[in-house]
Amino acid sequence: MASAPRPLVAGNWKMNGLKGSVGELSKIMSGCGELSRKADLMICPPTTLIAAFADAARGSQLQIGAQDCHAEPSGAFTGDVSAEMLADAGASAVIVGHSERRTLHNETDAQVRAKALAARRAGLIAIVCIGETRAEREAGQTLAVVGRQLEGSLPEGASGDNLVVAYEPVWAIGTGLTPTVDDVSKVHALIRQILVRNLGLTGDVTRIIYGGSVKPANATELLGIANVNGALIGGASLKAADFLGIAGVYGA
Ligand code: PGA
Repeated sequence: MASAPRPLVAGNWKMNGLKGSVGELSKIMSGCGELSRKADLMICPPTTLIAAFADAARGSQLQIGAQDCHAEPSGAFTGDVSAEMLADAGASAVIVGHSERRTLHNETDAQVRAKALAARRAGLIAIVCIGETRAEREAGQTLAVVGRQLEGSLPEGASGDNLVVAYEPVWAIGTGLTPTVDDVSKVHALIRQILVRNLGLTGDVTRIIYGGSVKPANATELLGIANVNGALIGGASLKAADFLGIAGVYGA
């Protein structure tokens, strides 16, 4: 058994934040020092803020990520941003296949895989999101759905260095609801199994993070589950105190 991978606590700011938000970022950075000895810490702001945040975070322990990318490196794709552009702006990772992209922009597993490949091509870590809807959970299809999404979204050449898998049950995002410890543990065990089957030894050290209503109040329980190697945090990552409160689980 390989030793547990270094945890990743990543904040997904979604479509929130203006230039003035660099103040909140500074508060996050000032709390990162000690914590970063135990975990990687990352904020994924909207695209407009990546360059400014990356400049502000240079020399600190905080990494800056993006929330989506196009699969192509450049071209006639009005309004889109490539992985190379994100890397150029200072990002070190990019979230792909978030459920809001899968649902609101009809992204398929094949597109998510192409984006994850683009991330690797540009030297970014791909944070690949998967997760079942409420209807799929109620129909007892959680493991089948998550397994299918993962197999369909896994890019070639993935390894613990360039891939993070985020399990985010769609019904838990922004709702205050979370799955039981047992449910999370079953899904993460399945993801680990699939990663090991597809990636071999490196599948054992690929981080599998949990997302969906993670808060300081439930972080100890959720992050303590076997095969949970960190968190992807939406709403609670917008406030430095909450983000650091969650990451603080690893400093305790
Ligand atoms: P939430 O969002 O923490 O606000 O539930 C998580 C996510 O969508 O990544």
